[in-house]
Amino acid sequence: MIDAAFIQRVQAIVGDAGLVTDTIDIEPYVRDWRGNYLGKTSLVVRPANTGEVADVVKLCAETGVPIVPQGGNTGMVGGGVPDSSGRAIIISLTRMNKIRSIDLANSAMTVEAGCILAAVQEAALRCERYFPLSLAAEGSCTIGGNLSTNAGGTAVLRFGNARDLVLGIEAVTPEGNIWHGLKALRKDNTGYDLKHLLMGAEGTLGIITAAVLKLFPKAQRTCTALVAVSDPAAAVELLATIQGAMGDRLTGFELMSRVCLDHVIKHFPETPEPFSARHAWQVLVELTDTMKDSPLEDTLSMALQPAFESGKAVDAVIATSEAQAQALWNMREHVPPAEKLQGRSVKHDISMPISTIAEFIQRGDAALNARFPQAQVICFGHIGDGNLHYNLSFPGMLPSAEQTRDANNIVYTLLDELAGSISAEHGLGQMKREEITKHKSRVELDMMRAIKAALDPKGIMNPGKVL
Ligand code: FAD
Ligand code: MLT
Ligand code: ZN
Repeated sequence: MIDAAFIQRVQAIVGDAGLVTDTIDIEPYVRDWRGNYLGKTSLVVRPANTGEVADVVKLCAETGVPIVPQGGNTGMVGGGVPDSSGRAIIISLTRMNKIRSIDLANSAMTVEAGCILAAVQEAALRCERYFPLSLAAEGSCTIGGNLSTNAGGTAVLRFGNARDLVLGIEAVTPEGNIWHGLKALRKDNTGYDLKHLLMGAEGTLGIITAAVLKLFPKAQRTCTALVAVSDPAAAVELLATIQGAMGDRLTGFELMSRVCLDHVIKHFPETPEPFSARHAWQVLVELTDTMKDSPLEDTLSMALQPAFESGKAVDAVIATSEAQAQALWNMREHVPPAEKLQGRSVKHDISMPISTIAEFIQRGDAALNARFPQAQVICFGHIGDGNLHYNLSFPGMLPSAEQTRDANNIVYTLLDELAGSISAEHGLGQMKREEITKHKSRVELDMMRAIKAALDPKGIMNPGKVL
């Protein structure tokens, strides 16, 4: 129980600087980014180092106080905020934001969990290296949150998800023991790979306190383009064409419907219209190369030629300056904030085989438009990874529980048919905890529950999330 005696014992571990107890100061920690979840707690703990995290977790294990780990609180599924019981404390890792070391010869960097993603990217660039995890929340999300959600983002196509970018982790177990797993090895077949259990566990199996991240050579050339296409099938075809022509120089391939651009331009009026005409679909293409004289623009133009001839590509703008490239990325990165300003929507972060994307959009749109003629589909995402953000907005109103249930049923039934996933990159959190039981087999759910029970027998780590 969070009583005065408990708070005093926490204070003895972390000092005054590590405690937040004032209701007004606590507010930003208990409300999620989308404003969909409002939890309750009377204590946020901000440890300064791994030893303090371990001591606080030990105390919680002893007293049965549940823990919600939190990083930047940018999560989309309510995983980082407590429930409304007020029983749990939040452990925020944001004070643990040191870059502990950089080993250039091993292309690796050891960072604490509370490091902001953008700070990690910048530290890599300062050493002429590149850390590829990239997402619109990078200015406030943390490495701990990124690994705990196995975040995706806009460069998965070339570099993989967050878990592909990690060599080792340090973590505190639900009993308060420290696992010193900060090995910087690219090969290590010594039994179960425990770091992969903690990554993607959304704080339900322990607290990640630090990680060894992989670094990559810095790109010397970048080409950013926006290509308007006739429909999603043309976008998927273009993906294969560009990959065929340019291999893994293709690092980003992001689909956006016109509805997304309309919202961005409405809420961020400084955004320029990218083309002289309106197009229903566009893809943001990013190509990079570590070779200085790589002819990215010319090769892209040649690759686009057949698509223009067949009418599948209808317009294109290739950035001629860094500022233009940034403006194209700004457009893409403003889609989530614009959608948020537009009002609450029913969000679907889903994945499917790339070959089924066009069929999914066509059948999904038809079914949703038939059931909700007043609603608007907001479709965008990382189609190079088969990952769509396929959201339904009800202009001027909040979606009701019944509308949310029906929209989910339409989308998830179709996904099951296409062998897709109901969570591509945001995780399950509170939002999809019940829904997932309809889409995983009993065998799979039983294995997950057995792992949870073995590692967290008291059930204190982020209860009510994932399982
Ligand atoms: P939080 O929101 O604080 O926490 C997320 C989960 O991780 C919670 O379950 C929490 O309990 C757990 N957790 C946090 N830190 C730790 C830790 N140290 N140890 C154990 N568990 C921990 N996500 C994508 O994958 N791709 C995107 O492209 C993307 N774009 C986004 C764009 C915007 C504008 C926003 C607001 C969000 C976006 N997200 C995206 C979602 C979000 O940014 C990611 O999920 C991010 O990885 C969360 O990091 P965080 O530090 O904010 O974690
Ligand atoms: C994105 O790709 O921008 C995100 O995952 C955020 C969102 O889905 O809103
Ligand atoms: Zn995304």
